[in-house]
Amino acid sequence: MQLLKRIRPLYVVGFSLPLLAVFVHSCSKDPQLAAEVSDNIRFEVPPGFPQPVYDFSNNPVSKARFELGRKLFYEPALSRDNSTSCGSCHQQFAAFAHFEHDFSHGVDGLLGTRNAPGIFNLAWHTSFMHDGGINHLESQPIAPITNPVEMDETISNVLLKLQARPVYRSMFAEAFGSDSITTQRMSQAIVQFMGLMISADSKYDRYRAGTATLTPQETAGLATFRSKCASCHTEPLFMDNGFHNNGLPIEPSINDSGRAHITGLAADMYTFKTPSLRNITLTFPYMHDGRFSTLQECLDHYTTGVVNSPTLDPLIGPSGIPLTAQEKADLLAFLATLTDNTFITDPRFKEGQ
Ligand code: HEC
Ligand code: HEC
Repeated sequence: MQLLKRIRPLYVVGFSLPLLAVFVHSCSKDPQLAAEVSDNIRFEVPPGFPQPVYDFSNNPVSKARFELGRKLFYEPALSRDNSTSCGSCHQQFAAFAHFEHDFSHGVDGLLGTRNAPGIFNLAWHTSFMHDGGINHLESQPIAPITNPVEMDETISNVLLKLQARPVYRSMFAEAFGSDSITTQRMSQAIVQFMGLMISADSKYDRYRAGTATLTPQETAGLATFRSKCASCHTEPLFMDNGFHNNGLPIEPSINDSGRAHITGLAADMYTFKTPSLRNITLTFPYMHDGRFSTLQECLDHYTTGVVNSPTLDPLIGPSGIPLTAQEKADLLAFLATLTDNTFITDPRFKEGQ
């Protein structure tokens, strides 16, 4: 983007192609340009997004904290056998979901029972996990570290391992003003890295901003989406921070009770947090247990697979959501406009050196 902005005026005044090539070459090595990319560390609410839930004023954004968070996110020493980092299950090219895995495996290849969701726009979530079992973003990083089928490590051990490495002592000092390595500081750094993962540059976003046009089929898909799906997958985040039973048949071997696992309430049986549908073409497989591998299967579930039960959401109804084959095709075209290639290739979120 930056590069194009710089080149275009020169091109217009008639640079010859070989000269342009030299210019592009030297420009790509321009240290100032590199600095612009890596210094772009700030939290900004994208146009049209609501106010965030997470308050960065209690965790002031700085390059030092963000870089520390990035290093921790990709740090396998956070796991018992130093094999697994957050980035092992949350991969950038899959919008930070776990590519092609229904259940994510952690240390010793152990399998959990839930599918890793994509990670983006976390500052707008009021709770985390498919059952909403975590209600503050800063408590989130502790859960996978201590989960026996994920990283299976104790926090005190993690802190000892980090304290033993001079690079971490100096990075914590730079980020927090002293080299003491605590659970809270570790969480805040990881949250700063994850919290800045904002996905708001899909074709849909550009359409909303008036800089892209949807095809007739995508437009028809958006209309169907707004009438049949958006009450739960609400724009512009494509989630509602709510829990619903969307009629999935119970998987007897796991019998995941969803939200009721946390609240113990009968009314919450088999309800799960509405996932965002942003980047949905990248985050397969789908649903809390990754039971569907394609979006077509998800749509077929809503039309013909819905199972009635006392907690089935009334918005879906015992016979599901009626959709014609044409409406399904239109919906698939629309859902593809939610893929954000800028986000999945953003150099700020790659594993650092
Ligand atoms: C072994 C794979 C694995 C590892 C390692 C892992 N996660 Fe996850 N992550 C998951 C799964 C599976 C879930 C969903 C869990 C659930 O709902 O019970 C999840 C959920 C999350 C969520 C909640 C997203 C949402 O929309 O509610 C965040 C944030 C997150 N992980 C961050 C992290 C961080 C930070 C680390 C490293 C400290 C990490 N994860 C390590 C698999 C993993
Ligand atoms: C009553 C609320 C509700 C309505 C209406 C609804 N959904 Fe969902 N949707 C959910 C919930 C809750 C889940 C997560 C279920 C789970 O994890 O087991 C979900 C999951 C999904 C998933 C899988 C997402 C993922 O990351 O795994 C897709 C795709 C999806 N819905 C698309 C749609 C479409 C398209 C429509 C309209 C035809 C629709 N939904 C209507 C609540 C709803």
